[in-house]
Amino acid sequence: MNVVILAAGQGKRMRSDLPKVMHRLAGRPLLQHVLASARSLVPNRIVIVYGHGGDEVRASIAEEGIAWVHQTPQLGTGHALQQALSALDDSVATLVLYGDVPLTRRATLEKLIGAADDGLSVLTVELDDPSGYGRIVRRGTEVARIVEQKDATAAERAIREVNTGLMVLPTGRLAGWLGRLGNDNAQREYYLTDVIALAVADGVPVRAVQPADAWETLGVNSKTDLAVLERVLQRETAAQLLDEGVTLADPQRVDVRGELACGRDVAIDVNCIFEGRVELGDGVQIGAHCVLRDVRVAAGTRVEPFCHIVDAEIGRNCRIGPYARIRPATRLAEDVHVGNFVEVKASEIGPGSKANHLSYIGDSSVGRNVNVGAGTITCNYDGANKHRTVIEDDVFIGSDTQLVAPVRVGRGATLGAGTTLVKDAPEDELTVSRAKQVTVRGWKRPAKKK
Ligand code: UD1
Ligand code: CA
Repeated sequence: MNVVILAAGQGKRMRSDLPKVMHRLAGRPLLQHVLASARSLVPNRIVIVYGHGGDEVRASIAEEGIAWVHQTPQLGTGHALQQALSALDDSVATLVLYGDVPLTRRATLEKLIGAADDGLSVLTVELDDPSGYGRIVRRGTEVARIVEQKDATAAERAIREVNTGLMVLPTGRLAGWLGRLGNDNAQREYYLTDVIALAVADGVPVRAVQPADAWETLGVNSKTDLAVLERVLQRETAAQLLDEGVTLADPQRVDVRGELACGRDVAIDVNCIFEGRVELGDGVQIGAHCVLRDVRVAAGTRVEPFCHIVDAEIGRNCRIGPYARIRPATRLAEDVHVGNFVEVKASEIGPGSKANHLSYIGDSSVGRNVNVGAGTITCNYDGANKHRTVIEDDVFIGSDTQLVAPVRVGRGATLGAGTTLVKDAPEDELTVSRAKQVTVRGWKRPAKKK
């Protein structure tokens, strides 16, 4: 089949400069969600009708194999589909999706496709509050036409069965029907929904199909709608995680903006955010208020509350946080401890090494069983360029040490507290750079002048 995604509208009610279909739901543009649904059906062709926001919308989708059709000006959903006609394969049916209806399940789309047969099918739903949607007008039990809210009589507005916008249409007949659409209506638009009455008049069967859940068909027209759908999607994601055996301290207080893959016996405390692709191995525990983006955490690791971890790989049985910041291109081996107020960037830290308090480790290679004392800083930036620090195995770094990169600390070396290391430190020796301690006898603090 063909899938056409209508995504040209401006979305005035969003009150935003961003094209509507680029607003994000669970971290991905609305259009991405719709495209993923389309792809899941493995159609012959995918056509996206875009218009408002033009190149910005196109550029937001990197995928190949999409026919882009520009609709300008935007004269309505019927006009939009008409622009796509030449890109369609006539021999198969056409499924119309809306760029602003992002959460339809694949099973529902398959049901809609199955119902169309040689005719036409439309996805409808009964809403307690149908306002804003086109209403399904039936004659007896048969669908007769769709009337838009703005064109509906008071009696028609009382109808609670609404048009979700999703339809399957016989492609060969589309040119005829779309050519006959008028715009003599409240919005002066060519409504795709008017095709229903034309099909009925031509004796083509129109079947209405309902989704398993009403939320599958909710559209985004305002920030309120977007917020509502965000909660729906997060609730569904949390339910799925629980089904998979993940322990969630509160399923209403976890946000997954991407993919979260969990092993067995993973536990996640409240108010965590997972972005991009996050993998948590068996037995991983994530404390409250953590943000993880594009991270792999191996089995048995515990991330204490208030950690921010981005683009990193964390080994087995590590202890991270509380209040740790792990930045891109960081790789921690197993049994590594990164404690409170420690920032790690673009560094590898070997097995069993610890940086437990108040440190910055950037552009560094740290070996195994290294102890990084409190307040240790790798001075990786000279104001113009970044340089690397190498700390070999079994090194002990005293507190409040600065390592001015590029610099190397040899295996088994000890750095005395307060050292400012500007040259390499040899293996197995104590290196210390601080001045000798003196006591000035009889020294008095200055007194305040009267
Ligand atoms: C539309 C339906 C309405 C249905 C509702 C469901 C029509 C006339 N009305 O109304 O029956 O209940 O969706 O959400 O179809 N678009 C274009 N080009 C245009 C106009 C719109 O591509 O010229 C796209 C929009 O980007 C959007 C979709 O079509 O993705 C729907 O447009 P919108 O203006 O939101 O229609 P509604 O008024 O919500
Ligand atoms: Ca809409």
